[in-house]
Amino acid sequence: MDDMLGYIRKYPEMVLDAIEATKKSWLPSLKFDRLLVCGMGGSAVGGDIAADVMRNYGIPLQIEISRRYALPPYVRGDTLVMFSSYSGETEETLSQFAEARRRGLRTMIVSSGGRLKGWAVRFGVPFVELPAGFKPRATLPYSLFTILEYLRECGKLDLTADIDETVKVLTDLREDRQKDSEMTALAGLMAGCRISVYAGEAFEAAARRVKNQINENSKLPASWDVFPEMDHNEIVGYEDNDVNTGNYVLLLRDADEHPAVRERIEATKELIRGKVKGVVELWSLGRSPLAKEMSLLFLADLLTYYLAKQEGKSPDKTANIDALKAVLKEKLNTQDKLENGLV
Ligand code: F6R
Repeated sequence: MDDMLGYIRKYPEMVLDAIEATKKSWLPSLKFDRLLVCGMGGSAVGGDIAADVMRNYGIPLQIEISRRYALPPYVRGDTLVMFSSYSGETEETLSQFAEARRRGLRTMIVSSGGRLKGWAVRFGVPFVELPAGFKPRATLPYSLFTILEYLRECGKLDLTADIDETVKVLTDLREDRQKDSEMTALAGLMAGCRISVYAGEAFEAAARRVKNQINENSKLPASWDVFPEMDHNEIVGYEDNDVNTGNYVLLLRDADEHPAVRERIEATKELIRGKVKGVVELWSLGRSPLAKEMSLLFLADLLTYYLAKQEGKSPDKTANIDALKAVLKEKLNTQDKLENGLV
């Protein structure tokens, strides 16, 4: 169904539903030292944010994301490999699953249906079933909080208090229609521009996610980078040239940024301000790292929704993604080949 604004406003309920769905799935409590999340686009982002969460809370669990056809060769038995595809039909994710079966790796599946769900049932793979009917990118709370709840069940972390805060912050944001007005005003400034999204190191995954949401919801070109790394390369692209004059810079800010990161962001702003059409900032809300990152993602989702409206585009449709998937299916039909090759 096409209801992107409705999906965004459902974030608090999705957080709670994801936790319930994971609890109901009766997953085995496995022992593992690393988590590899295989997925593409909107189904990979939950893994990205979970990796930020591990760093921001100092939790010594390595989470890596694999967005490709092949698994990393070094993955061994100490790694749980989670396959995340909302449709259950994404060929890169299916290819990695087939490889994991051949290599005898420990697997888990998160999906709303498709072949991946069928394979979970057929091979008895631990499985979390997501509700059908959403756009994959709109289910970020499902993919993220499924991971966090499963890690809690395995004794890796317990963020219950911060999840409660996150739900409250997201609910308050949803009720605050002033935020809709602010995001509409920002969208008015940024309409028609190429947008560069930058965040501090704590919220690296948010920068990538917001760039993707600008692409998919607003149908605009965008890029992302992160401080401090971008101060060692990206800023040189703003030296004496006029290629950026029609571009906007969107900074994802946080009151608790590392002091050096804060200095870098302020100094970088001064360097680039005159070279671009404008620089705007979204500030996180809440106390905990989880609530802060989710508040930025919620605000940015609203912004990308209103940007689509400014552009006169449907925030729901992603015609080029659909067209490309159809071409690949027609030419290669990787899904059927994998299905036939699985034993
Ligand atoms: C569409 C979207 C895409 C998909 C991607 C993978 O809303 O966000 O980025 O997530 O094409 O498809 P799924 O998620 O079905 O594995």
